[in-house]
Amino acid sequence: MKTITPPIKSQGIKTKLVPWIMELRGELTGKWVEPFLGTGVVAFNSKAKSALLSDINPHIIRFYSDLQKDIITPEIVKHYLQEEGAKLAVAGDNGYDHYRLIRDRFNTSFDPLDFIFLSRAGFNGMVRFSKKGNWNIPFCKKPNRFSQAYVTKIVNQTKICKEMIQKDWSFVCQDFREVIPQAKEGDLIYCDPPYAGRYVDYYSGWSDEDEKDLFELLSQTKARFILSSWHHNDYRANENIEKYWNKFNIITKDHFYHTGAKEENRNPVVEALIFNFQTNMNTHNHGYKNIKEEQLTLFESPSPSMAQAL
Ligand SMILES: C[S@@+](CC[C@H](N)C(=O)[O-])C[C@H]1O[C@@H](n2cnc3c(N)ncnc32)[C@H](O)[C@@H]1O
Repeated sequence: MKTITPPIKSQGIKTKLVPWIMELRGELTGKWVEPFLGTGVVAFNSKAKSALLSDINPHIIRFYSDLQKDIITPEIVKHYLQEEGAKLAVAGDNGYDHYRLIRDRFNTSFDPLDFIFLSRAGFNGMVRFSKKGNWNIPFCKKPNRFSQAYVTKIVNQTKICKEMIQKDWSFVCQDFREVIPQAKEGDLIYCDPPYAGRYVDYYSGWSDEDEKDLFELLSQTKARFILSSWHHNDYRANENIEKYWNKFNIITKDHFYHTGAKEENRNPVVEALIFNFQTNMNTHNHGYKNIKEEQLTLFESPSPSMAQAL
């Protein structure tokens, strides 16, 4: 099935990994709990009836929460983008004057529609906030960014996300330490925290203490969890896999990121899914063949994929 893509864009968006995550997830009986929602692409493809969706970035949460409450509708998005897009097309400095106007307005009012504008007209589809919490991405330098076709695309993305949002989905702006303990047996927690040191901004700093807290919370939960992380790239291995996560199951996959100005960010990364349940998924443990004995004691019998890797 085609992956649903949301109207918000960001570096590190997991669109390409959605089928893999959903295959691993299997049947969902309880709530979908996602403490690091980001663009929401994984949640919108979860088909969950009930969900707890959170992020410490209030702009993301406000946009989706307003969409759920009909404060924002696809029609409103359409009118807004048509109007602002027309102003952008004729603005001075090749459109930059209007981009600056929207940026400055957003940094004062934090209007969720301005957030969509900036997310879709910023350089390379990136989202970054300064230390003061202000929008911090330059213009993509395309004054005709909001062509009719592009507006229709964004409006359709808004429409499909609106259709996916259920009554029993809650959007909250909380730290993951408040969210994970709310998950119960039968729920599925999907975690996609910032990758330490890769894209650091106001909302995506990630420290050793954060990683340790996440590890402790996920070790204690009665819910199933899937954690996205990176396993290694051409330069180095993710030390946190060895330090924390290798007591759980890990499967890996090659993935290419093309966003980001840094050379390092353009290299292939071996993505990892770390999880605390059995799977029948027929997938190899690329780069992680030594499943620890202690890991096997967590389960009554190893899954076929684990048995294969052994
Ligand atoms: C890698 S992104 C998630 C990307 C998302 N899976 C997607 O595909 O769009 C990580 C997210 O975690 C959020 N975040 C960072 N620190 C957090 C914290 N302490 N608690 C909750 N969310 C946090 C960031 O604002 C960011 O949106």
